[in-house]
Amino acid sequence: MQVLVLLLWMGALLGHSSCQNTAGSPEEGSPDPDGTGAPVEEEDPFFKVPVNKLAAAVSNFGYDLYRVRSSMSPTTNVLLSPLSVATALSALSLGAEQRTESVIHRALYYDLINNPDIHGTYKDLLATVTAPQKNLKSASRIVLEKKLRIKSSFVAPLEKSYGTRPRILTGNPRVDLQEINGWVQAQTKGKVARSTKEMSGEISILLLGVAYFKGPWLTKFDSRKTSLKDFYLDEERTVRVPMMSDPQAILRYGLDSDLNCKIGQLPLTGSMSIIFFLPVKVTQNLTLIEESLTSEFIQDIDRELKTVQAVLTIPKLKLSYEGEVTKSLQEMKLQSLFDSPDFSKITGKPIKLTQVEHRAGFEWNEDGAGTTPSPGPQSSHPAFPLDYHLNQPFIFVLRDTDTGALLFIGKILDPRGT
Ligand SMILES: *[C@@H]1O[C@H](CO)[C@@H](O)[C@H](O)[C@H]1NC(C)=O
Repeated sequence: MQVLVLLLWMGALLGHSSCQNTAGSPEEGSPDPDGTGAPVEEEDPFFKVPVNKLAAAVSNFGYDLYRVRSSMSPTTNVLLSPLSVATALSALSLGAEQRTESVIHRALYYDLINNPDIHGTYKDLLATVTAPQKNLKSASRIVLEKKLRIKSSFVAPLEKSYGTRPRILTGNPRVDLQEINGWVQAQTKGKVARSTKEMSGEISILLLGVAYFKGPWLTKFDSRKTSLKDFYLDEERTVRVPMMSDPQAILRYGLDSDLNCKIGQLPLTGSMSIIFFLPVKVTQNLTLIEESLTSEFIQDIDRELKTVQAVLTIPKLKLSYEGEVTKSLQEMKLQSLFDSPDFSKITGKPIKLTQVEHRAGFEWNEDGAGTTPSPGPQSSHPAFPLDYHLNQPFIFVLRDTDTGALLFIGKILDPRGT
């Protein structure tokens, strides 16, 4: 009897689940108002706001970057804050002549935006996502080879829109590493560790993107309910990790039958949320889900998920990343920036991109703002609450609800990993 009811309940969820990827499937759009006969996708009013439209563009770059990074690390965790890399690239485009500028703008999907003041809008985007209540630290920097004379016509707009000044290297690797470490510490309030890696002597243009996030859930977890539980690395192997749980969690949920995945969303303070993609079957192959990730798809999900009560378990997480994303960018139609780009708006000397570095830290634990879950208007309280156990490989997306910006993305194959 219980089984039957549970099946019916799951069936009802299946029926309601409408988080299919409609982006890029024009047959589902409304008829073209111009009467040319070609069906067009009706744009979500959310994307009519210039800052949201820009956030969608740079986030789509972010999902592309994530896919490339993830395919390079099929058996390890991936942690990425693509926004900090996008910001560095967008800032760099201020120094690019037309041919090179359009290479960068295409990668960032700016060619699909009708906005004469991209950099001014970017300033608004950064101001929104780094507001103190968001608990996100994110910073980007352009570092240039030693003795370079740079044009003030590049520095002024860079400072105006991106709040950053380019840094010229001294040529002494120890001094330069120390200075960069000091900058990272200052930007992240000491939350991202100092690098001990030697600086390359071959730097012409180095882009640096750093980010740190640790924010409270809207509803805190009871730490007395946290205990060591099994996490399935794959169908056969398990590891014991600290798992938080809430037997009466209020979760936004949908079962995506195309992706064969259970999508859950938990709110954080400061108009932020984390969306989880949990395959129905235990697998390390998350390709199908990864391929569907776009700003438009995530926006659809955010709209379509239904509030449910769930028995929730979720591993405590503390991840960090330090490394280059240079190779990833080279695979993203940005190779020409590393060959013979035109950055003559920065300096008279021919310079080119040589490295793109990313440092990131990300953490969640039981901390939350409130204890009493406040069910939303759509809330339903089934006799048999849903089970949502993040005890096998999953993907998470940290998203700013105000602008839709992708702030962090992670592939968790083993919660013990860094
Ligand atoms: C992962 O899954 C995708 C589609 O679901 C498939 O095309 C691909 O071959 C799989 N990759 C591996 C390594 O099994």
